[in-house]
Amino acid sequence: MLLEISDLSVEFRLLQDKVKALHQVSLSIDRGEIVGVVGESGSGKSVTALSVLGLLDKNATITGGAIRFKGTDVLRLSPRERQALRGKEIGMVFQEPMTALNPTMRIGAQLAEVFRLHRGVSRKEAYALAVNSLAEVHIRDPELVARKYPFELSGGMRQRVVIALAMAAPPELLIADEPTTALDVTIQAEILKLMKELAESRGTAIMLITHDLGVVAQLCQRVVVMYAGEVVETGKTRHVLAAPVHPYTRALIGALPDLADPDQPLQAIAGEVPDLRHRPAGCIFASRCAAANEQCRSQHPVLEMVSAERETHQAACWVR
Ligand SMILES: Nc1ncnc2c1ncn2[C@@H]1O[C@H](COP(=O)(O)OP(=O)(O)OP(=O)(O)O)[C@@H](O)[C@H]1O
Ligand SMILES: [Mg+2]
Repeated sequence: MLLEISDLSVEFRLLQDKVKALHQVSLSIDRGEIVGVVGESGSGKSVTALSVLGLLDKNATITGGAIRFKGTDVLRLSPRERQALRGKEIGMVFQEPMTALNPTMRIGAQLAEVFRLHRGVSRKEAYALAVNSLAEVHIRDPELVARKYPFELSGGMRQRVVIALAMAAPPELLIADEPTTALDVTIQAEILKLMKELAESRGTAIMLITHDLGVVAQLCQRVVVMYAGEVVETGKTRHVLAAPVHPYTRALIGALPDLADPDQPLQAIAGEVPDLRHRPAGCIFASRCAAANEQCRSQHPVLEMVSAERETHQAACWVR
């Protein structure tokens, strides 16, 4: 396994309370694999990603679990070692490309700096690599774009530049947190296609966080469904999407009229996400689940294999 998160729990301190944002989250990503992480807003997708990157907000505490990258527990690394991991072995792409770019530096210079850092090449070689990397993310006229500042580019172009930056090392894992959410619908598909193409040609694995099950269906070999800070279902994409087991996953998919339409966002499910300051003793989804019984309200379900034929397909549900 390239990345192995096991039983990760994260809390945030507030003035009076603690928000228990993640509860025993486990997920793994193999080399070269594209794994989708889906779930409604607040389900803990970003907190999971930021835990791996070591970029959680200051009021966060990891209260349990481990994160192994290539066998090393990254939670035991020094801040310096973690920083070295970011960018070099683990690349990142976030929703808003501007946050990853230096607004005062020309695109070519920014990219060249990263190539110099990771490849130890001369200034001139680094600049040539930078221009070449812009061509690889399908930017036309890369020499011209290399001389521009970020503000001179469109959102889609900026995100291409961010992808070029993230892939420069090149990393073994790319963490992409809603990389296309802020972009024009017509640009979204192109950017996702680009990420898949680069990942395949370089053997980079991707943790792809998205609201969009259509994106998962198109790009991801496996999917992890999160709800209120827990993994409620996981498995091969074709198994989970074709035969979802957890009522939450079913609701997500049921709320999606046409899976073939990649532009459909996840729809709201009736009821509210529980208050994460006081996690319930039973199933986290029980308060919104039509099938919930007494056991669901009192005992916490754990991930279990769904069927012998679909070994990797697991769900945490008492009534399935
Ligand atoms: N710094 C913080 N302080 C307190 N709570 C936080 C903090 N950061 C995140 N949280 C809480 O952790 C929970 C999980 O948030 P997270 O950002 O991971 O959700 P998400 O699945 O990425 O949602 P979205 O789809 O909206 O991006 C939420 O309840 C959120 O309010
Ligand atoms: Mg998020």
